[in-house]
Order: sequence, then C-alpha cells, then structure tokens
Amino acid sequence: MCGIVAYVGSKHCQNILIEGIKRLEYRGYDSSGLATLHNGKLIITRAVGRVASLEDKLEAMGGQPGTVGLVHTRWATHGGVTEFNAHPHRDDRVGIAVVHNGIIENYAALKTLLEEKGHKFSSQTDTEVLAMLIGELYEGDLESAVQAALREVTGAYAIAVICEREPETLVVARKGSPLMVGVGNGEYVVASDGAAIISHTSQAIMLDDYNVVKITPKGFRTSTIHNVPVTHKIHQLELELEEIELGAFSHFMQKEIFEQPKALRNTFRGRFNSDEGRVILGGLADHAKELVKTKRVVLLGQGTALHAAMIGRYLFEDLAKIPSTSEFASEFRYRNPIIEENTVAIAVSQSGETADTLAALVEAKDRGAVTMGVINVVGSTMARETDAGVYLRVGPEIGVASTKAFVGQVAVLTMMALWLGRRRFMGANDCGDLLRQLNTIPDKMEQILSLDAQVKQITERYVERENWLFLGRGYNYPTAMEGALKLKEISYIHAEGMPAAEMKHGPIALINEGMPAVFIANRGKQYEKVMSNIQEVRARGGHVIAIATEGDNEIKHYAEDVMYIPDIPECLSPLLAVVPMQMMAYHAAVLRGHDVDKPRNLAKSVTVE
Ligand code: G6P
Repeated sequence: MCGIVAYVGSKHCQNILIEGIKRLEYRGYDSSGLATLHNGKLIITRAVGRVASLEDKLEAMGGQPGTVGLVHTRWATHGGVTEFNAHPHRDDRVGIAVVHNGIIENYAALKTLLEEKGHKFSSQTDTEVLAMLIGELYEGDLESAVQAALREVTGAYAIAVICEREPETLVVARKGSPLMVGVGNGEYVVASDGAAIISHTSQAIMLDDYNVVKITPKGFRTSTIHNVPVTHKIHQLELELEEIELGAFSHFMQKEIFEQPKALRNTFRGRFNSDEGRVILGGLADHAKELVKTKRVVLLGQGTALHAAMIGRYLFEDLAKIPSTSEFASEFRYRNPIIEENTVAIAVSQSGETADTLAALVEAKDRGAVTMGVINVVGSTMARETDAGVYLRVGPEIGVASTKAFVGQVAVLTMMALWLGRRRFMGANDCGDLLRQLNTIPDKMEQILSLDAQVKQITERYVERENWLFLGRGYNYPTAMEGALKLKEISYIHAEGMPAAEMKHGPIALINEGMPAVFIANRGKQYEKVMSNIQEVRARGGHVIAIATEGDNEIKHYAEDVMYIPDIPECLSPLLAVVPMQMMAYHAAVLRGHDVDKPRNLAKSVTVE
C-alpha cells in the first residue's frame, strides 16, 4: 500500500526513482507521481494507473532532470483515483512537495484552519493538507518546518519532502508507516522497503516512530519531531537481488508457490532436532519461563495471516493443550477484549506492518499480555513491538496473494506449539515423531508441485464458473478459507470458504448444476463426515473437486476430479492441502487474463485501519 522512494546525490535521479518505485509496485497502488528539483524549481509529473503511464508521460516530455527527487505510488484512501489526488502534493506558497504513506487523522480540522489562513486546495487528500501545513510553518528551514508540522498531526505517516528554497535537501520522517534510508557512497536512497534500495546499497537506517532525517549530498542528521538528536544504527539489508527478481517464472506468485519447499527448509533450518524431540527457537528462549505458564493464547491477524492464525489455534489446543482463540485483529482491537493473567497474544503477519494487526498487538500489550510475533519482515514495526517472536525466514514475498508466507506462518506456529507442548507435557518421542513428519513437508510439497499440469487441466474445466465453494473440517476448515481467498483475490471469482458441516445450514441453497465445490478430504478424524458432505453437494448437482490422500481410490467414486496430496498427520496437513488450491487460483487468474501480481484494488501491506 503506497510506496515511497526518494533520492539525494549527484546523479540525475529520474531513472533511479522509477526503477525503485517499480520494485514497490507489488505493494498495490492506483496512481503515481514524481517530483524533482531542477535549477531551484519543482517539476511534478503525475499519472493515473500503472507506473508505465507515468513513464510514458516522462518520455513524452523528454525526461525530468534533477539530482534531488521523490516518487510515490498511491493507494487511494481520501479522494478518488485522479491525477489531482495523486502524490506528490505541493503547497501554494513556498514550493514544497510532499509524498506520504498513511493517514492524517485530523486532516479535516487542519484543512479548515489552513483555509481560514487563505490556502487554496486542489485535491481531496489528507496529504495536501500536510504540504500546506509545512509551507505555512516554513521560516527558512525545511527540517524545522517538517518537525513543527508533524507535532500538529495525528495519524500515521511516512513522508518525504523537498523544497524549492533548499534545492539540495530532502527531509523524511515516519510514524506508523515504514521508511528506511539507504546510505550509499555520496548518495542516499530512501524507500518504504529494502527492495527499492538493494541495487544501490545494502546499508540502511530503519527509522523509528517520530524520527525526522534531513539529508543532503554531504550527509544526514536524525532527530525527533521535537528536534532531539537521535543516534542511528546502520543495518545490513539481508536481501539478495535475485530474491526480488522473477527469474524464469511468469509471475511472482507462481515463483513463490514453487519456492515453498525451499522456503520451508529455511524456516526449519537449525530449529529442531527430531532425534531428541527438541525444538530450538532462539526468539523465545529469553521468555521460556514466562511462556511455559501460558494459560491462554490469542492469535491475531488479517487476511491470509488470519487463516494461518486460525490453524494456529487448532495447533496450540491440540499440541500444547492451551486454550486458544484466533480472531480478526481489527475486531479484537475495538471490542474491549479481556486479557487474563498469563495470556500470550501472537501477531501473525507477513509484513509486520498491517495497521489492524499492529493496533491489536499494542492493545493486547497495554492490557498485560506477553506479545509474540510470527512475522516475515525482519525489523518491521511488529517485530520491534513484540516481546518475543519467531521469524518466518521465507524470503521477501512480492506476490500480493500471499502463498509462501502462509506456509511459513503455519510452520512456525507448529514449531511454537511443539516448543510449548514439549515443555509442558509432551514426551520426546511424540514430539520427535511429529518433527520428523514436519521435516518431510518440503519434499512432499515438491511432489504436489510436480502435478501442476494436471491442476491446470482441472482448473480449465471450471474456470468459467462464477461461484465456488471451498469446504474442509477441523484443521482444514481454515485451509478451505484460504483456498477461497486465493481464488477471489486474483481471479475475481466469487468463492466462499467454510467448515464443510456449515454448508447445510444455508450455503447449500447456492448449489446448482455444475457449481464447483472444492473439498479438502484428506484422511483424518472427520473423513467419513466429509464424505457425507460431499454426497450432499453431489445430490444437488454440484461438481466436487477433492483434495485427497494419495492411495485413496474410493474418493474417485464421489468426486468429479481428485488432486492427491501425500499422506501426513492431520495437524500438518494444511501445509500440503493449501498447495493445489494456490496452484488452482493461479491458473484460474492466468486463464481469465488477469494481472496476477497486481490484482485490482488490493494492497500487499495494508497500513491503514
Ligand atoms: C493484505 C494482503 C493480504 C494479507 C493481509 C495481511 O490484505 O493483501 O494478502 O494476508 O494484508 O498482511 P500481513 O502482512 O499482516 O500478513
């Protein structure tokens, strides 16, 4: 959601900025814009739609010169998708340009005040209010004006600001939304995430909330919005260029689906010893005494991460015998939740920046919960907010539709549940057995991935249908929800996921001739019950696509199509059952001609509540 890249140095920065913002396209956006300073004047170009439209405009005008500049992709919050609302926004007096990620909550009050002072607005955005406010408070020093303006603002922001009167200066700041400063040799590249920086430098400063950084070609200075100097630490970005490039794949989603075995091998590396039945999670070690006393686990997330959290609930109850709940972080946050003693709140998030999950995490912490993170992005806001945690280690996820992060989250939650279970009641042998099985998952995933052509063929048979059901029970009820989410996100087919038993309580009314119903029907405790649910669908003309355990020939009598997954204990089965559904969703989107990596209206990291 919204991407920012800014540059200060000695090179003409248009191409650097465009290359950088393209690396952030995956975050989701609907318009873009570029501002540079040239001969003390601002040049601003904006376009609706893809960054390619902005590039066309830049080419038509013969390029945009300047060695200081900023670029932005906007995901509309305040005001429609128009060129007027696209960033950068400028003030009407000083010559200030601002790009912004986040939401200025008190923008309406500030706007009224600024209008009373005679400022004229040309957009409906909260960001233009910020530009005007900085201009209003400008007294010859951009850094002070930005600090003063941010003291007036409530809400979340990552901003980058330039000004005609200080043509060599860039000022950036953050609260709530991510921003980092890449420190190169005589040049600086600021960006919302490392993907836009890594081709220039691997050294970066991660801004903390309320940090303001003034950057010129000669150096930089970090302070707070109250002008208290801050000493920063330079981090090494652990990102390889090839991780954020497509290679031989057609889409990032496809690449990430196929990367899952490798990703999970990384997730597991050094974290368990099956022979000794031991799980070794460095991120929990310091809190072991406290965590062993856990009386309740509350798992929080949104979207795909919520589905992983739902599976986590089953895992913690089943393997660690701890009462657990999982819920939408956004609902938890605002319903006056009860946090008893020895409650552990776990934030599940790929990005570590999702505003709803972050807000819920802070709420749980304020109410006395021990907080843990199951997060992919190292150093992200949630990773820094939590008391303890375990990183996914699945590498950067670029595809908007989350795939490898989901299996990483489920795998980490499995290890956490075993880590706790083993410290409470579980014997070394039982734990060791499950760990051995967990270790087979990457190879078994590879087997499933080798059936891609077959999954494609099955998808072709149903791709014209506009309504699908995804059904599962127990551990695979959340997996069914995830299957439905994948399909709707990128193919825009209406799909519902639910517990297979729930279908007869209403959704069964939807079933008509040929309606596809994907059943997760692997061998497990509720296999017979799932078979009955399959019969109910078939009796009404629905077409069943079953995900079944290898060797189950019986199922062929009940399902039109079968996709087999290798045998695995039920508690680990979501890690395998999700894969054919990811592949189906991918093929459905491609067959329907959609842009898989840039699905309409979606953002990769949703930094507004
Ligand atoms: C957005 C994305 C989803 C993702 C959700 C949670 O809605 O489009 O794919 O599952 O946010 O993101 P997180 O980064 O917290 O896992």
